[in-house]
Amino acid sequence: MAEQGFTPPTSEWYRPTADMVKQANVPDYDAVYALARQDPQAFWAKRAAELEWYKTWDQVLDDSNKPFYKWFVGGKTNMALNALDRHVTTWRRNKLAIIWEGEDGEKVTLSYWRLWQEVNKFANVLRGMGVSKGDRVTIYMGRVPEIAIAMLACAKIGAPHSVVYGGFSEQALASRIEDAQSKVVITCDGAWLRGKIVPLKVTVDEAVTRSPVVETVIVVKRTCQEIQMEAGRDYWYHDLMALPFAKPNAETEVMDAEDPLFILYTSGTTGKPKGVLHTHGGYQVYTSTTLEWAFDIKEEDRWWCAADPGWITGHSYIVYAPLILGATSIIYEGAPTYPYPDRWWKIVADYGVTILYTAPTAIRGLMRFGEAWPRRHDLSSLRLLGSVGEPINPEAWRWYHRVIGEERCPIIDTWWQTETGGFMITPLPSVALKPGSATRPFPGIEVDIVDDDGAPVGANEDGNLVIKSPWPSMIRTVYGDDERFISQYWEKYRDQGWYLAGDTARRDDDGYLWVIGRNDDVLKVSGYRLGTAEVESGLVSHSAVAESAVIGVPDELRGNKIFAYCILVEGAEGSDALEAELKAHVRHEVGPIAAPAQIEFVDNLPKTRSGKIMRRVLKAQALGQPLGDLSTLED
Ligand code: WT7
Repeated sequence: MAEQGFTPPTSEWYRPTADMVKQANVPDYDAVYALARQDPQAFWAKRAAELEWYKTWDQVLDDSNKPFYKWFVGGKTNMALNALDRHVTTWRRNKLAIIWEGEDGEKVTLSYWRLWQEVNKFANVLRGMGVSKGDRVTIYMGRVPEIAIAMLACAKIGAPHSVVYGGFSEQALASRIEDAQSKVVITCDGAWLRGKIVPLKVTVDEAVTRSPVVETVIVVKRTCQEIQMEAGRDYWYHDLMALPFAKPNAETEVMDAEDPLFILYTSGTTGKPKGVLHTHGGYQVYTSTTLEWAFDIKEEDRWWCAADPGWITGHSYIVYAPLILGATSIIYEGAPTYPYPDRWWKIVADYGVTILYTAPTAIRGLMRFGEAWPRRHDLSSLRLLGSVGEPINPEAWRWYHRVIGEERCPIIDTWWQTETGGFMITPLPSVALKPGSATRPFPGIEVDIVDDDGAPVGANEDGNLVIKSPWPSMIRTVYGDDERFISQYWEKYRDQGWYLAGDTARRDDDGYLWVIGRNDDVLKVSGYRLGTAEVESGLVSHSAVAESAVIGVPDELRGNKIFAYCILVEGAEGSDALEAELKAHVRHEVGPIAAPAQIEFVDNLPKTRSGKIMRRVLKAQALGQPLGDLSTLED
């Protein structure tokens, strides 16, 4: 079902200036797309050859065991080799790798040399604590420079990291620790957000009680409030980094191209989150190519991806791809509106940010405060803007373009997923834009929009978005669950061998792609991905709730908001107080982003005869739309 508020394709064009095209890393999209299409393997091999390898691959793509594709087979490398090691032997050792600003105004800059040393030290710490190649390490931190150091140190020693977003609750954290069987957790005492402390260590303590697999907790000091440290289990990061074994030199583990780099949990259609697995080889090639071409990265750029490192956007485009390219990446700790709604614009002006990449929900949130806040700052350093996470409504697009980009900056609207590792559908700066369309597939990517049988749908018709051929940074499996990997992404179009994205999309008369939204039981709330089942299991874990169903309803600011329907247990009474209690319960059990905006107490839920909740019916009812085909409805 199309989202309400979705604007149908238009022919409102924004064409790049001749200067923009001339200076672009890829001035002619069509030519490069055609080249990649002609011989995809030769194309990706050429991109891979831009990177360093301990040993070159024997085979670009092994597709003998579909859908378990392998890329750069026989190649030996390490993410840390390309993101750090290779830079410190050149002049880039003195270039800034990371510029960090805390919400409280504290500032840290790390040159490539300094970052390399810190990563080496921490790699030695991890090795000293008994972490070795293949061990999974869970990272649950705020947006501090140490999160990048921790991720890179894990990569360096070949220990796959599992970063859990700091906004998740202890239950979500515990289940991810459990699934990955992490013996080590890296965290902070707290994080600053809107002037308050998010008590990360307290959450870790509770999660660790629930998952006894954890032996060691390493704590970065950030907010400095009193916290409990359990002797023999908890260690301060700064204490460990001061020990003699934390030497500023560390050997980089030689990894197979297909060895895991990280697991990142994301929401699916069941209550259990999926551990999306990415590897060292293909992921490096794809993320660095997409960043270099879509955002036209130049040596002198100051790149700011304002996402959280805890999401795929942060993995690929705050930490890894910018460092591979030797760029300067900006990280800001806190809220965009703290202490005033011009915080972001001040950061752009203070550091001379040239490219800003954020989400529609953030743009809409800042738009509310009006133009005066951005106008107060010199935004002339900006040359490109980006958007990700959900469809951008044309109104927000135009505001972003006019007020922030001063009509000078193209907006790079990138469609992709945790599973894809990098941008899949995106304009390059040389491509003409339409507000709300992610335009065209990236070179080397073959997408289509098809019906349930796999037949392509006509222009301007809705269909399922599929990816028809493999790409280097594709998800390798769901960690520990190959079955789920197959059933989730490959079963529907098994005969054709296509990847099912889970999104509805359409193609307009000009061949431009418009992604409309999810067509499975996954919700996008403020750009965050949530399974209806996760919120529902959060609700039923409260003793008053017997059963629940959750839907996403369009919301001006957040894209979607959550509506919940609950059947209460015998004897429980629906009330405003219970509604408030249930909201608080979900915040605590799942995380603040999962809290329903509204809860309705009902006597029954619309179900199919086989007992499946028909969320579609609830949604149509909530929106006052026709209920559609009810022939499968039980009652
Ligand atoms: C889902 C993936 C990829 C980084 C952040 C989200 C939606 C993402 C766009 C866009 C329309 C978008 C899709 C997709 N989505 N970017 N530019 N236009 N929709 O990653 O949490 O894995 O979510 O986000 O529905 O399937 P994610």
